[in-house]
Amino acid sequence: MPTAFITGATAGIGAAFARRLASDGFDLVLLARDAERLERTAAELREKYAVRAEALPADLSAEEGLGAAEERARRDVDLLVNNAGFGNRGVFLDVPVSDEVTMLRVHCEAVLRLTHAAVPGMLERGRGAVVNVSSMAAFATRGTYGASKAWVVSFSRGIAADLRQRSRGGVRVMALCPGFVRTEFHERAQMDMSGLPEFMWLDKDDVVDAALRDLRRGVEVSIPGAQYKALAGAARLVPRGLVTRLSSTTGRRYD
Ligand SMILES: NC(=O)c1ccc[n+]([C@@H]2O[C@H](COP(=O)([O-])OP(=O)(O)OC[C@H]3O[C@@H](n4cnc5c(N)ncnc54)[C@H](OP(=O)(O)O)[C@@H]3O)[C@@H](O)[C@H]2O)c1
Repeated sequence: MPTAFITGATAGIGAAFARRLASDGFDLVLLARDAERLERTAAELREKYAVRAEALPADLSAEEGLGAAEERARRDVDLLVNNAGFGNRGVFLDVPVSDEVTMLRVHCEAVLRLTHAAVPGMLERGRGAVVNVSSMAAFATRGTYGASKAWVVSFSRGIAADLRQRSRGGVRVMALCPGFVRTEFHERAQMDMSGLPEFMWLDKDDVVDAALRDLRRGVEVSIPGAQYKALAGAARLVPRGLVTRLSSTTGRRYD
């Protein structure tokens, strides 16, 4: 059985990846901070899909948690999904700088170190994949969040090219860039999303479905949903100042 390691696996997009990969026959390593919820999630998946599901409680913003995750990622991981992430409440200067640094640790340092830990084993076996969950915010202007997600796209693109050559296409890396997805994300960041039009919302299972389809096809930057593919195309054509104005405000009201 292949093994998938998913960070942020207890809620939202990560939980959707866990269910879908279990139903596809993957054994799982699931990571999040809330140990009780994590064990419950693992037990449900073991029961429902008859797969192995290890619970690895860890905080990716802390050295101890990230070190433990790295150690596990070095052993037999065929698919790494770097998904854990969060939004801070408020715009730059409203947010304590320590929270912004925590975001960079989880969105960038953890993605870098877990990829670095998992890929050598994949290269040895001649196959494997890494999905780094970025965001449409990578193409927009959304403070530290957007900047961290832009790093994820750039990092993923760069190593995808290196690894394609070294593994003759056996090891793939893809950045996944969803738009707004109904998960716990916005509530956790106390964002008021009531003004967002219905067509802008994506379903988490559809996002995972599109991601895995794109990964099979060798896509390097996956943008789920026709509306967001169109937006990404349009953003290249309209003036940068307008993109900045719209993207720094859309869906960005805080309770
Ligand atoms: N929802 C959207 O609209 C949207 C759009 C584009 C991109 N994304 C990205 O998609 C990813 C998943 O977000 P989501 O919407 O599914 O959020 P979510 O529903 O809030 O789930 C976040 C998951 O990450 C875990 N997590 C958070 N901080 C962590 C830490 N320091 N260490 C370990 N685990 C941590 C949470 O569990 P614990 O709290 O127990 O740790 C939870 O399992 C994020 O990278 C986000 O930036 C989301």
